[in-house]
Amino acid sequence: MLKDKKISIIGTGNMGEALVSGLISSESSKPENIICTDIREDKLRMVKEKYGVDTTENNLQAVEVSNVVIYAVKPQIIASVLKETSRVIDMSKLIISIAAGVPLAAIESCLKKDLRLIRVMPNIAAFVKESASVLAAGKNATKEDIQLAMAIFDSMGKSIFLKENILMDAITGLSGSGPAYIFLIVDALADAGVKVGLSREDALFLSIQTVLGSAKLLLETREHPGRLKDMVTSPGGTAIAGIHTLEKGGLRTTLINAVEVATERSKELGEIMTKNFLNEEG
Ligand SMILES: NC(=O)c1ccc[n+]([C@@H]2O[C@H](COP(=O)([O-])OP(=O)(O)OC[C@H]3O[C@@H](n4cnc5c(N)ncnc54)[C@H](OP(=O)(O)O)[C@@H]3O)[C@@H](O)[C@H]2O)c1
Repeated sequence: MLKDKKISIIGTGNMGEALVSGLISSESSKPENIICTDIREDKLRMVKEKYGVDTTENNLQAVEVSNVVIYAVKPQIIASVLKETSRVIDMSKLIISIAAGVPLAAIESCLKKDLRLIRVMPNIAAFVKESASVLAAGKNATKEDIQLAMAIFDSMGKSIFLKENILMDAITGLSGSGPAYIFLIVDALADAGVKVGLSREDALFLSIQTVLGSAKLLLETREHPGRLKDMVTSPGGTAIAGIHTLEKGGLRTTLINAVEVATERSKELGEIMTKNFLNEEG
């Protein structure tokens, strides 16, 4: 059970803190069962004061006493942090990496031992406990490991489980990079509001609230987006006139192309990252 597990978070930056906040506020874990590490003493002092968790600047010490280890450092340094902690990592611990673009195979080849390993791709909405997180498991991770990891990431949003090899780059292209697309769309809608005479403040507020309300409606009604679109387009009305213009401008094709190109970019970056891991190894 998650509540009984000792969890260490290696690297308490933006995501690390989002994890601590989610775990504590959802009561999925107890502060005394979480141990945070970082190279910056000020960050550790802050999480200790704010959440009551244990802290240390010593990664090795944290990993050693934990049942679950979450690596939340930047992708560029995860190889060296994994190596630093390697001698206290074994099959008795569940190892989770949230490093963007770092494939499971790269971690496995870096540590050269059998591990219960899970990779997670969260997104920036973790900061408001609305992350769309996707999990993929290494060959030794058990069903219980996957359930435990999902419980951890459900505390900062919602999560699903997928097979990495086929789809993790697609996930990075859709939900990992997706917030950037939505921010652009909200900004563009706000510009549109200003163009038709609204104040910038009102236009931005209305754009944000419209996106939030539409997402909530989709989630709560479970209706197909096409059906909800049909419900708000009256014959000869304003919405259908707007939609006609969006379709003429290629909005749908542009979004499909954007996700496709981001997926390809994720693949390329994963290959570079794997090469770097192999170089570090040698
Ligand atoms: N942010 C996102 O939206 C997002 C989305 C998906 C996945 N991710 C992944 O999540 C991971 C963390 O991202 P983030 O945005 O939270 O990064 P971040 O804010 O930079 O957090 C990483 C933390 O680790 C610290 N650190 C550096 N070296 C360390 C070491 N040797 N031992 C322990 N801690 C160390 C950093 O300190 P310094 O700042 O002093 O270096 C920083 O506080 C990344 O791998 C990223 O790819 C992030």
